Amino acid sequence: MTDDSDKAAKPWGGRFSEATDAFVERFTASVTFDQRLYHQDISGSQSHARMLREAGVLSTEEFEQINTGLEAIRKDIEAGNFNWSVSLEDVHMNIEAALTERIGDVGKKLHTGRSRNDQVATDIRLYLRDEIDRICAEVTRLQQGLLDQADQEADTVMPGFTHLQTAQPVSFGHHLLAWFEMLQRDYSRLIDCRKRLNVSPLGAAALAGTTYPIDRHLTAELLGFDAPTENSLDSVSDRDFAIEFCSVSALLMTHLSRICEELVLWTSAQFDFIDLPDRFCTGSSIMPQKKNPDVPELVRGKTGRVNGHLIALLTLMKSQPLAYNKDNQEDKEPLFDTVDTVFDCLRAFADMIPAISAKRDNMQAAASKGFSTATDLADYLVRKGIPFRDAHEIVGKSVAFAIEQNVDLPELSLEQLQQFSTSISADVFDVLTLEGSLNARDHYGGTAPAQVRAAIARARAQLQQRQA
Ligand code: ARG
Repeated sequence: MTDDSDKAAKPWGGRFSEATDAFVERFTASVTFDQRLYHQDISGSQSHARMLREAGVLSTEEFEQINTGLEAIRKDIEAGNFNWSVSLEDVHMNIEAALTERIGDVGKKLHTGRSRNDQVATDIRLYLRDEIDRICAEVTRLQQGLLDQADQEADTVMPGFTHLQTAQPVSFGHHLLAWFEMLQRDYSRLIDCRKRLNVSPLGAAALAGTTYPIDRHLTAELLGFDAPTENSLDSVSDRDFAIEFCSVSALLMTHLSRICEELVLWTSAQFDFIDLPDRFCTGSSIMPQKKNPDVPELVRGKTGRVNGHLIALLTLMKSQPLAYNKDNQEDKEPLFDTVDTVFDCLRAFADMIPAISAKRDNMQAAASKGFSTATDLADYLVRKGIPFRDAHEIVGKSVAFAIEQNVDLPELSLEQLQQFSTSISADVFDVLTLEGSLNARDHYGGTAPAQVRAAIARARAQLQQRQA
């Protein structure tokens, strides 16, 4: 990056009588971060130039020179042979200046009938579209890992919680499928966001369109957009798609943070439900025994910055008058950081989830404590003809008695249980077991292992469709 302030002539310098203040130049430049858009910027320019040739604004020869020149610049940038200059402000003017330097005056014709305002709006849409595709692929990889784990753990019993108190036994596979569902909604929101952003602002120029006979449908088509945008003012000012993406991302990160929290709890000595391989953990510099679940903790923490970016973008757009304002240059850093953060967190998760191993005996032992089959006993009494509220009362008393005896419900004898209801007979022990409890919840969306397997099959079919 060079900072050759006063030297390079500004592409907009015609009406200015003094050089830009050196600090202002750095302060207003975006090239340090928007150079990330070089690929989309070049593709956008190539499509624009091609359209100008179709419209008769550029000759075939001029188009060929521009097109080849831009391609060579792309290669230079990718090879690290491009000198970005702060005095050329942003990615757009850096590339345009390099083009003119390379091919001569023809390069100056590229900007005919467009503005950086429609150019940048196009670039960000193209960029975000590519990133959404990359992120969606990572969501899918994570979901695949969850399904494979769920398959292995369909029969594993763990305590299900409400209020973080033992509630009812569930299959660990079922719990993993709950995470799968959160991500399923995130995926569909990403696709939805992609659909809405996939329109082409190119041709809106600065704000009002252009006097050249441009074909906006052609540039839209060349760039893989579904259509041109409808209104030139809206085209250059709209950043809804960035806000929408950050909002979808904030929710996705919120889901990851919830999973993180459970992983952190479960790796603790107090729960001890799972093992996270060492490669996803770090130690303590002072306490030799420590193995900390850093990856889940860090992902949980990174949720904060993504939420922050959403608020930053909403606030950036709030009260902005039409059409383009320089404020909008501030859309990029929050957006880029959201993309990077979400992708990295998903990547860490997609690598980590298949590596988790369930400590099945510990989960089973935990599920056997805390009266997790109390509801099953109440349901049993209802089947014997007792109204649910009375059954609830009977079971409550049985639980209080068991607490006194320091045992769990299935450990009470038949005689002890019968003190509370004469409707209880020997078959009660079938429902008081964890397996009995699980198997009894045998309906669509329930935790019975057979239902979990059916849900996995449906989920796999959905992922299959996605790939098709
Ligand atoms: N760097 C600018 C941005 O990111 C590009 C558009 C500048 N347009 C302008 N009229 N100054 O928004």
